[in-house]
Amino acid sequence: MTKEIKVIKNDKEPYNPFNPSFGELPYSILGRGQIIEKIRNAFDSNLKDPYRTVLFSGARGMGKTVLLEKIVEIALEYGFVSVNITAGDFMIDDLFEQIFERTEHLLSQKKKIKSVSIKNFNIEFFNDDTTLRVRTRLERVLSKLNEMGVGLLITIDEIYKTASGLSEIIIAYQHYKREGRNVALMLAGLPKNVSDVLSDSPETRNFTFLRRAERVILKNIDIEEITQTYFSTFNEANKGLSAENAVFMAEATKGYPFMIQLVGYYVWQKSKEKVNKEFILAGIEEAKERLGILVFAASLNDISDKDLEFLRAMASFEMPVQTADIQKKMGVSQGYVQQYRQRLLETELIYSPAYGKLDFSIPYLREYLNI
Ligand SMILES: Nc1ncnc2c1ncn2[C@@H]1O[C@H](COP(=O)(O)OP(=O)(O)O)[C@@H](O)[C@H]1O
Ligand SMILES: [Mg+2]
Repeated sequence: MTKEIKVIKNDKEPYNPFNPSFGELPYSILGRGQIIEKIRNAFDSNLKDPYRTVLFSGARGMGKTVLLEKIVEIALEYGFVSVNITAGDFMIDDLFEQIFERTEHLLSQKKKIKSVSIKNFNIEFFNDDTTLRVRTRLERVLSKLNEMGVGLLITIDEIYKTASGLSEIIIAYQHYKREGRNVALMLAGLPKNVSDVLSDSPETRNFTFLRRAERVILKNIDIEEITQTYFSTFNEANKGLSAENAVFMAEATKGYPFMIQLVGYYVWQKSKEKVNKEFILAGIEEAKERLGILVFAASLNDISDKDLEFLRAMASFEMPVQTADIQKKMGVSQGYVQQYRQRLLETELIYSPAYGKLDFSIPYLREYLNI
C-alpha cells in the first residue's frame, strides 16, 4: 500500500523521506496492503470478525512495530481508544496509565466533569481500585467506553510467554470477547517467542483461545513494489532516478523492510541533486554498514563463541547449506552440530528452508560474517 507521498521542501532541498529507525512509521508501508485491509474491515464490521485478534510474527526489522502503529491509526479512525504496550515488567501499570490518560479527556467532556486530578477522576468515574484483578479494573473502563460506542484496542509488542501480566491481560480479553464487548487485541513478537506463547506450557495454559486467533507471519516485500516506490519517491523530488537504477536499488534491499529504509535513506543523502550510479553504490554500501551495526552486531553479541563459530562455518558455504557440510567443516560430531543448529534456530538468525538445510534469516548476515 502506498501512501500519497508529499516531499516537504525547505529552502535548499527536499527532506529525506526515508527513515532508517526502528519502530517509526515510514512514508509508505509497502507490501502490507492486504493485511491492513482485513484489519480495517474488522474494525468496521462486526465484533466477531477474526481479524479483531491477530498475532504477528517476524524477524527483527521485518516491520512488526510499524504495523502495530499503523493499526492504531486505523483503529482511531473507527473511534477506538487504543493502548499500546511493550511486554515487560510494568505492562499492567503501563496499560492502566495509558488507558486513563486516553479516556479521561473523552469521558470528562461527555459527562461535563470539570477537570479534577486524573487520580481522583479514575477513582470517582471508573471506580478504579488497584487492588482488584486486571479483569475487573479493565471491565469498569470498558463498560463506560462501550456505553458511548467506543471500542478498545490493546496492542502488545515484543511478546514472550513469561512476561508478567501477559496472561492476566489475555484472560481478561478472552472474557470480554465472550461477553460481546467491542474490543480488539494485536500481539507481535519474534517467531520463536510467538510460537512459545502458542505452545502448551504452565505459563500458557490459559491461552487456548489465542491458538485459534489469526496468525500473520511477516515476510519480505516484493521487489517490484519497492522498485515503484523508489522510482516515484526519488522522481517526485526531481532526482532523476532511472527505471533501471530503481530496480538495482530495490534488489539491493533483498526485500527486507529495514533495508528498504536504509538504502533509500543513504542513496538520498549521497545524491544532493541528481542520483547516479556512483551515489547509489555508495549509498548501498553505507546501508549495509548500518545494518551491520544496528542489527547484526547487537544480535551476535547475544550468542556464545561456539555459536559464532558455527555461524562462520555456515557462512563459508553458498546458501542454502547442508547441515552435514557444516559438520564436516567444523570437524565435530553429528550430535554437537545438531545441538548448535537447534540453539541457533531458536535465535532466529538462521532457519531451515528444507529438510537438512539451513539459510540465514536476514539478508547480508552471511556477508557480514565473512568479513
Ligand atoms: N512494510 C514496510 N515498508 C517499508 N518500510 C518498512 C516496512 N515495515 C518496516 N519498515 C521499516 O523497517 C524498519 C524496522 O521496522 P520495525 O517495525 O521497527 O521492525 P520490527 O519491529 O519488526 O523489528 C523501520 O525503519 C521501518 O520504517
Ligand atoms: Mg519492533
